[in-house]
Amino acid sequence: MSQDWERIGTVNRERLGLFQQLHVYGDVIPLKHVIDMQQLENELAAFSDKWVQYNPEKTNNPRHGLSVTSLDGGMSGVPDLFSIYEWSKQTGRKVSERDFNVPTEAYRHCKSIHAIFEPFLPDVGRCRFVRFQPGGHFPPHRDGSVNYQIPDYFRILVPLNRTGHDRFHFVHDGRLVDYEPGRPYLFNALKTHSVVSFDSDVITLALSVALKQETVAKAVDLFKIY
Ligand SMILES: [Fe+2]
Repeated sequence: MSQDWERIGTVNRERLGLFQQLHVYGDVIPLKHVIDMQQLENELAAFSDKWVQYNPEKTNNPRHGLSVTSLDGGMSGVPDLFSIYEWSKQTGRKVSERDFNVPTEAYRHCKSIHAIFEPFLPDVGRCRFVRFQPGGHFPPHRDGSVNYQIPDYFRILVPLNRTGHDRFHFVHDGRLVDYEPGRPYLFNALKTHSVVSFDSDVITLALSVALKQETVAKAVDLFKIY
């Protein structure tokens, strides 16, 4: 199948312009609104039996997910916590990060995270809590786009409960990131990144936000230092 390179180039250039408006400020950018961890811990207690093994095919990787948004507002984890590639092959349905935009019960109940979402609504895409046990990890990777070279979303990671330097490492572009638990970090996910947990019940929150002029402007407003 021949590719429409002209169209692909136009889309990439438009996205790159927006992406650069964010990352000209840095690759890992702290945002305002530190999450109240005690409140979040109390809120998450209501979901203790709702965590889903993250990508169960990877049996040697102890991590569970709790969907904060999903395709249908449900919390089955299908397909958002499984292999979206496999699911697309089976169902013939193609989805993007931005399609996972229906808030779940976990979103409604966990009010402590709302301040991070509200500036970006309704443009928040796939978002989930991930809970790690020792050795649980995401190996080095880049979050790209299937059809284009520049994705149509940007990423925010919030290290939460039981994180900290001796417990949970966030590595970006080959460097260990110095982070503050509870604080959201907007990061350049086109550069390699990985996380690994050394402790039990470590929790993080990962968000995708649609890349649009409006959301870029809102993100810049949220920079901790401007
Ligand atoms: Fe990633």
